[in-house]
Amino acid sequence: MALQVVNSPFDERQTEILNQLLPTLNDAQKNWLAGYLAASQSAAPPETTKQVTKTSETATRTITILYGSETGNSQTIAEQLNDQLKASDRKTVISSMDDFKAKKLKEVEDLLIVTATHGEGDPPDNAIQFHEFLLGRKAPKLDSVRFSVLSLGDESYEHFCQTGKDFDKRLEELGATRIHPRVDCDVDYEELAEEWMNGVLKVLNEDSQTQASEQQVPSSPAEAPIYSKSNPYPAEVLENIDLSGRGSNKETRHIELSLENSNLSYEPGDCLAIYPKNNPELVQAVINKLDWNAEQTIPINKQGEIRSIQEALTSIFEITKLTKGMLEKAAGFFDNEKLTKLIEDSDKMREYIHGRDLLDLILDFTPSNLDPASLMHWLRKIPARQYSISSSYKANPDEVHLTIATVRYHTHGRDRHGVCSGEIAERIQPGDQLNVYVHRNPNFKFPFDDSTPVIMIGPGTGVAPFRGYIEEREELELKGKTWLFFGDQHFRSDFLYQVDWQNWLKNGYLSRMDVAFSRDSAEKIYVQHRMLEKAKELFSWLEQGAHIYVCGDEKRMAKDVHQTLLTIIEQEGKLSSTEAEAFLNQLKQEKRYQRDVY
Ligand SMILES: Cc1cc2nc3c(=O)[nH]c(=O)nc-3n(C[C@H](O)[C@H](O)[C@H](O)COP(=O)(O)OP(=O)(O)OC[C@H]3O[C@@H](n4cnc5c(N)ncnc54)[C@H](O)[C@@H]3O)c2cc1C
Ligand SMILES: NC(=O)c1ccc[n+]([C@@H]2O[C@H](COP(=O)([O-])OP(=O)(O)OC[C@H]3O[C@@H](n4cnc5c(N)ncnc54)[C@H](OP(=O)(O)O)[C@@H]3O)[C@@H](O)[C@H]2O)c1
Ligand SMILES: Cc1cc2nc3c(=O)[nH]c(=O)nc-3n(C[C@H](O)[C@H](O)[C@H](O)COP(=O)(O)O)c2cc1C
Repeated sequence: MALQVVNSPFDERQTEILNQLLPTLNDAQKNWLAGYLAASQSAAPPETTKQVTKTSETATRTITILYGSETGNSQTIAEQLNDQLKASDRKTVISSMDDFKAKKLKEVEDLLIVTATHGEGDPPDNAIQFHEFLLGRKAPKLDSVRFSVLSLGDESYEHFCQTGKDFDKRLEELGATRIHPRVDCDVDYEELAEEWMNGVLKVLNEDSQTQASEQQVPSSPAEAPIYSKSNPYPAEVLENIDLSGRGSNKETRHIELSLENSNLSYEPGDCLAIYPKNNPELVQAVINKLDWNAEQTIPINKQGEIRSIQEALTSIFEITKLTKGMLEKAAGFFDNEKLTKLIEDSDKMREYIHGRDLLDLILDFTPSNLDPASLMHWLRKIPARQYSISSSYKANPDEVHLTIATVRYHTHGRDRHGVCSGEIAERIQPGDQLNVYVHRNPNFKFPFDDSTPVIMIGPGTGVAPFRGYIEEREELELKGKTWLFFGDQHFRSDFLYQVDWQNWLKNGYLSRMDVAFSRDSAEKIYVQHRMLEKAKELFSWLEQGAHIYVCGDEKRMAKDVHQTLLTIIEQEGKLSSTEAEAFLNQLKQEKRYQRDVY
């Protein structure tokens, strides 16, 4: 398999040399090289790091790094930043926002916030309380605090990077001094995040009157895996099975991928991210409409890498989602009066964007003489899609399994498919390859002992990580109290992994299971109805120290399940609604209530 320049940290010349060398290496040589690189990185840090360490000893202010992160991106950046500051001998404190005692805020000197936005412009789960406190009336004056905010988000959401914006604005209102402007990052956040980090480090290092600001700070952690987000592994598809039975309204697929020789590993709760390819018919329709030559090469990034138009529209650029930012940038290249007018009206733009793609845009606002080389200036990169891993690494070290619901819908006169789930359902066969990397999720981690009861709530594809977890418990021969709530539309056609659950119930690795098939009765029955029916027992499990996990739909299910948990705690614990909230927040703080919702 050849290394590709795109998504790798190497330039074209390095890639060519690596592509000549790598196929000639045997496994022993590869292992030796991997070990050598890892050892040389940890034994001899780059010159720049040493200089930073030497020159910044005068720095005295403590730097507090707080992160708000649900799926791990912000946490990873915060940890990288912490490593870099520590490497230059700075005093740091790093914490998730919920683990940080709000009362300590007044004592903070330099505050660096890295936060995502979730829900619809809401803070991530582990930032809710801190966000509420800071934006509330009890927040202290912060005149002596200096700060900077990095916000992660996704431009396709209405409230882009809202949580970061909230913190940034509020800290200023409270009197804190901004030492570096807030940076808002879209899904391909790496470059901007690094720029923000370097900017912040420059100010902090200048501050300590060193020459450190002139140094380039190394961006990658010492133990970078060989396959990663920027260098995905081309995994062979071993199985691609439709789990949904005859008559189902849905198509939910079970995918098995080979990880052989990848050196990739994962834990229950982690995700696998896939870089998908756009639908070739859609790509062709765009090229035809613009009357472009598919083979013409165009630049795809600032570094000057080039691809054919066909390849760029298939594998590099997102063409299925419109965002406000993209429309505003496109207007500068389209030379179309109607589009220029549309971008002046935010509400109309929002309405237009919904359910439309690049083909709609060029059909509705035909550009005059659009230069294909402009694409990199107004289209964003295709983001990888994450999927909760539904297998156990310990049980299948060479494989990874996923459970993927196919997204299909009809809008504005056309049938449409989700890019990734559509590709997998329509075009991927066993033997094909998918570019993947493991996305660790430190906020969705399970206990591995036989004394902690575990309650799992996972309707639909939300059941995926629980299959991985129970499979791992079986591998470890751990029998304890485990309780699964599963729901889907019909018992006959949508009981995902029914045989697996039945076997685990029989052999004791799963001790309880309650199911809710929503469309088998006149009234809809959902998982939370089953939870309410078993409220007494559920609460007694909580009293015995149970951990609760929720996975699946974020918009409706996770909110309703949260509400139901509050009701159960209130009712069974004989608590007021405020006390029930405090109880559930406490579980969150203790990492006994974790969610992976999307
Ligand atoms: C942490 C995490 C874990 C996840 N785990 C899983 C999992 O285990 N299994 C799983 O199946 N998914 C999972 N997902 C969701 C998954 O990542 C993808 O978002 C999902 O598969 C859709 O991707 P896609 O490329 O197929 O669709 P996309 O091309 O991204 O299309 C989806 C988009 O289409 C649009 N759309 C959909 N329906 C309509 C409509 N009716 N009208 C107008 N527009 C519409 C919406 O903008 C929607 O966001 C997870 C997500 C996260 C963040
Ligand atoms: N557009 C949306 O609002 C929306 C919502 C959920 C999922 N999705 C997408 O649909 C795809 C398939 O999802 P999936 O297979 O994981 O399953 P799902 O659509 O989430 O459905 C699983 C089960 O949950 C039920 N459900 C619906 N609303 C619920 C609620 N408020 N509380 C508890 N349960 C509820 C569903 O019932 P009914 O279907 O009978 O209502 C079904 O029985 C995914 O791509 C997901 O992102 C979209
Ligand atoms: C369910 C869900 C809802 C999201 N809502 C928003 C949003 O409202 N605004 C936004 O800018 N980004 C939104 N995002 C994008 C995340 O902020 C982005 O993926 C970020 O990189 C996640 O960082 P984390 O891994 O630290 O949680 C959402 C992501 C998910 C999965």
